[in-house]
Amino acid sequence: MDIGENGAEFVVVANRLPVDLERLPDGTERWKHSPGGLVSALEPFLRSHSGAWVGWPGVADTEVPPFEDDGLLLHPVELSAKEVEDYYEGFSNGTLWPLYHDVVAQPAFHRHWWNAYVKVNQRFADATAKVAAQGATVWVQDYQLQLVPAMLREQRPDLKIGFFLHIPFPPVELFMQLPWRTEIIRGLLGADLVGFHRPGGAQNFLWLARRLVGLEPSRGTVGVRTRPGVVQVGDRTVRVGAFPISIDSAGLDAVARRKETQARAKQIRADLGNPKRILLGVDRLDYTKGIDVRIRALYELIADGRLDPEDVAMVQLATPSRERVDHYVTMRKDIEQSVGRINGEFGRVGRPVVHYLHQSVNREELVAFMSAADVMVVTPVRDGMNLVCKEYVACRYDLGGALVLSEFAGAAAELTSAFLVNPHDLDGVKNALQAALDIDPAEGRRRMRALRRQVLTHDVDRWARSFLEALGTQTSV
Ligand code: ADP
Ligand code: G6P
Repeated sequence: MDIGENGAEFVVVANRLPVDLERLPDGTERWKHSPGGLVSALEPFLRSHSGAWVGWPGVADTEVPPFEDDGLLLHPVELSAKEVEDYYEGFSNGTLWPLYHDVVAQPAFHRHWWNAYVKVNQRFADATAKVAAQGATVWVQDYQLQLVPAMLREQRPDLKIGFFLHIPFPPVELFMQLPWRTEIIRGLLGADLVGFHRPGGAQNFLWLARRLVGLEPSRGTVGVRTRPGVVQVGDRTVRVGAFPISIDSAGLDAVARRKETQARAKQIRADLGNPKRILLGVDRLDYTKGIDVRIRALYELIADGRLDPEDVAMVQLATPSRERVDHYVTMRKDIEQSVGRINGEFGRVGRPVVHYLHQSVNREELVAFMSAADVMVVTPVRDGMNLVCKEYVACRYDLGGALVLSEFAGAAAELTSAFLVNPHDLDGVKNALQAALDIDPAEGRRRMRALRRQVLTHDVDRWARSFLEALGTQTSV
């Protein structure tokens, strides 16, 4: 795959570029790593295979010319402040995000948000049509751009188009609430391959293609990476499959093994007062992540006398996210209140129970935190995959640590040796936390060994290759 003279042979299209433009208060600008799992997963793969990336630079009303960043050609797409409000904060994160995450928050259906979504999707399709070489492979990413496959095919029937959804695809009963449900399914059907994390998502999509578009999908059960479903759309065959995403496992394992990382992990433990046990949460500050669930469980374990606050410290790293969307504003207040409550009741000077950082940390620091943590707590009420739990496993080359993981994360299907919990069952979460904190070291190593076998053999490279092979693209450089 190469950036050819007449356009790029391989193009990724995502709402965000892998780097985000940041305006500092003194008026200067800098690029920083974009938040979220999509970029964490795709960036290492893309950087090792040259290509182009079409996306928004993260700041409204800013025209940025195309530029090269470490071998990747970045093509910024401009959004106005109003489009950020209606397409990104509105339809993408006020309608689709809650709808696709099991309506854990109420989605809002506004026609002007939808209109902005159509308009911006068209802009992404137009930009991509200009960048892609004849016969190139274009890989469209995620819920913000579901109309792009069909819009792009309209202009460039020569392209090979893949689409991957990084979030759950909802049960059909919930999807049917969407006033623009048929348009979305038609948009996705513009791709040659539509990929989901789980076979259930693929199956739901096939059902909707029949119900809403009147197509006749194949009847067999979709497998993981195998047996894709097939729908005939006119003279085109669209494949629909399940491709569970993953991480750069070997890369994280290598960072964890560094002497400096281990020294930093030791320092973190010391900074926390060398408690007997450290619990860790790492998330974008999002209401789907169940951050409130784990703080509540910890609060109750201490209140019940089952845990001594002198023995434990919890660190919660929370990346700021979508800060102007209503649900996020409310959730942040609630979480910060519950952190205040647990520390107010059970902390003492210099020893809070929960260390809450509303910040993003760099990769080395993240690995050090994961190396220092005895128990990683991942309790989303719904998550397409969740990469944090896989990252923790990749960091634990020492076979130490224990993972508490929600059944409602896509990763639970693969990480079966974790302490699996139903985040709606608070007593179950409390019991799992206690079991993970008290785990017998031999049993802990047995579980971690099994988890690592899965994560190290199923990394992001394998994910990307299996998707691109199913699309019929050569992945060798
Ligand atoms: P999502 O894509 O919904 O944010 P994932 O778990 O799939 O959830 O991916 C989140 C990514 O963001 C992971 O790579 C994780 O390490 C990273 N991340 C989350 N919170 C932080 C933080 N506070 N600092 C640094 N990285 C973070
Ligand atoms: C999730 C989504 C991505 C998104 C990321 C960060 O990973 O699947 O599409 O980019 O969250 O969210 P943001 O709204 O900041 O782009």
